[in-house]
Amino acid sequence: MSASPLDERRADGGAPLLDIRGVAVHFPVRRGLLGRTVGRVRAVDGVDLAVRSGETLGLVGESGCGKTTLGRAVARVLAPTAGAVHYRRADGATVDVATLSGRALRGFQREVRVVFQDPFSSLNPRMTLLQIIGDPLRSHGIATGSELEDRVAEMLTRVGLSPRYLHRYPHAFSGGERQRVNIARALVVRPRLVVADEPVSALDVSVRAQILNLLRDLQEEFGLTYLFVSHDLSVVESVCDRVAVMYLGKIAEVADTAELYARPRHPYTEALLSAVPRPDPRLRDTGRRVRLADDLPDPAHPPRGCSFHTRCPHALPGVCDVAGRPPLLGPPAREEDGRRSVACHRASELDLAGLDLTEHP
Ligand SMILES: Nc1ncnc2c1ncn2[C@@H]1O[C@H](COP(=O)(O)OP(=O)(O)O)[C@@H](O)[C@H]1O
Ligand code: SF4
Ligand SMILES: [Mg+2]
Repeated sequence: MSASPLDERRADGGAPLLDIRGVAVHFPVRRGLLGRTVGRVRAVDGVDLAVRSGETLGLVGESGCGKTTLGRAVARVLAPTAGAVHYRRADGATVDVATLSGRALRGFQREVRVVFQDPFSSLNPRMTLLQIIGDPLRSHGIATGSELEDRVAEMLTRVGLSPRYLHRYPHAFSGGERQRVNIARALVVRPRLVVADEPVSALDVSVRAQILNLLRDLQEEFGLTYLFVSHDLSVVESVCDRVAVMYLGKIAEVADTAELYARPRHPYTEALLSAVPRPDPRLRDTGRRVRLADDLPDPAHPPRGCSFHTRCPHALPGVCDVAGRPPLLGPPAREEDGRRSVACHRASELDLAGLDLTEHP
């Protein structure tokens, strides 16, 4: 049997497709009539992370921790405040996405596409599916006229929709069908990397599996790499090869999915896992649930030292809350060639509880 495009990509030396280094995205906080800047929201605050060719890398964390902002910076929907995003092009050359402009930026935006969360608000109600899915083909100068129509019809078929729907408007479709349209719009220009931002979170549970299966099939067919953003650890466990856990703009831990779920090494990962609902009621309330105190701190004023220390059940006063002492174990929370990384002072001494994945149905 011949190798699929994905097999070829996975075999190409393991060099990262994307290498995110020290990326920060800060938003100004403005007040008053004159809109004076009075502070900065540190939505993403120094992220090191590699995305390997052909993998699905999950990005998880509570709402507001910076997942969407990091995904947008990676896809250059917005420009990072600091840091570099090294992207390995198909010809092997590496470019820093953070510095791209003009034609080079347009070219990159064809290769890296975003699928947004909300299938209702992300589709223009006044455009037909042909216009919606055909728009990137036209704007990137790839096809026009009947060729464009043929490509859109073919793409509709690939995402499981009939080409007869070409001239219909989004309101005629269900949430799952609209998300198929979103996916078609992202993939019609044949990207290499897709940032899928909570692609099934707004959908009924009954259609989630169908959309996840579609994403998996399209990954094989087109040899795609996914950065899969989600707050839902059950979904991430079912689709991701590796997982990065994000907290208040930083990466807390990165590991292969099975490793991370069975043996978390960061207290925040343990807390997230302990909150995953179990299908079997006997497995609930075994006393393992780690309740997180309070809400996520304000990203305009992150706690000093380890930013998780205000909620961490294992925090050591005088160690974890010391300013200028970032919680790093070995290398910064940065993963290279199978080494997992953890941003916690106490990672080597703590014995944390994971999930027995055989508990899942
Ligand atoms: N355009 C923006 N202007 C100001 N603050 C923003 C903007 N976008 C996001 N934020 C803030 O940045 C933080 C991270 O947001 P976001 O990336 O959407 O998190 P997540 O996707 O993990 O829920 C939040 O505190 C959010 O309010
Ligand atoms: S460094 Fe300290 S506060 Fe931070 S996660 Fe580790 S134990 Fe908890
Ligand atoms: Mg988000």
